[in-house]
Amino acid sequence: MWFSIRLDDHASLRPVTVLDAEEIYALLDSERERFGVWLPWMDSVRSADDERRSMAMLAEQWASLSGLMGALVVDGRIVGSVGIARVDKDVRCAEIGYWIGSAYEGRGLVTRGVRAIEELCFEQLGMQRVQITNDVDNRRSRAVAERLGYTLEGVVRRGHVVGVGERRRCSDLCVYGLLREEWMAREGRGDGERAAGA
Ligand SMILES: CC(C)(COP(=O)(O)OP(=O)(O)OC[C@H]1O[C@@H](n2cnc3c(N)ncnc32)[C@H](O)[C@@H]1OP(=O)(O)O)[C@@H](O)C(=O)NCCC(=O)NCCS
Repeated sequence: MWFSIRLDDHASLRPVTVLDAEEIYALLDSERERFGVWLPWMDSVRSADDERRSMAMLAEQWASLSGLMGALVVDGRIVGSVGIARVDKDVRCAEIGYWIGSAYEGRGLVTRGVRAIEELCFEQLGMQRVQITNDVDNRRSRAVAERLGYTLEGVVRRGHVVGVGERRRCSDLCVYGLLREEWMAREGRGDGERAAGA
């Protein structure tokens, strides 16, 4: 399913394709240290060829609606990603993930991207819950979920791995959730109560 969602006059969100591999590799590689603090998969970002394989796999995931890597595009350049890290089709829950280059951090692009993905999840994919998980110390990531009114449902002690190389370690994981009816109420889309569990 192809889409391109306008986020503002300059920015949009669309699925990545294999043709984006080199640009995405260059962006991740240029900030390896910074991304490596939180994103353990940075260890597997080793070449544009690896990224091509990974983009092909992600395109297949999106074809089966089981995951999505969305490219955040500003004036034609990819500056980051907001997407769906995993989908539980039984529970109808999608987990949203994101990262952005430092030059574009702090402008609200990720928050707008998450809102676009939420709409996709609730309106197109039939989800009844979306969640965001992040490290207890990842202040900027937690702020995205909190800005959008997610509920902090718990902190899973030593619940995930962060960091790369020698800094790789187990750490505490925050789980933030937003239910469909909470999203509808936040977006002013009718009676959130009646939509519960729909
Ligand atoms: C986590 C991460 C994606 C957050 O990015 P971000 O740029 O802080 O998030 P946003 O794009 O939503 O920007 C929010 C900022 O823009 C501001 N802003 C401006 N216009 C805004 C708007 N229209 N809507 C929302 N926020 C807006 C907010 O006030 C906020 O500013 P502040 O940081 O000074 O408080 C980024 O820090 C990152 O890539 N980190 C490394 C990778 C990572 O940790 N990923 C997450 C793993 S769980």
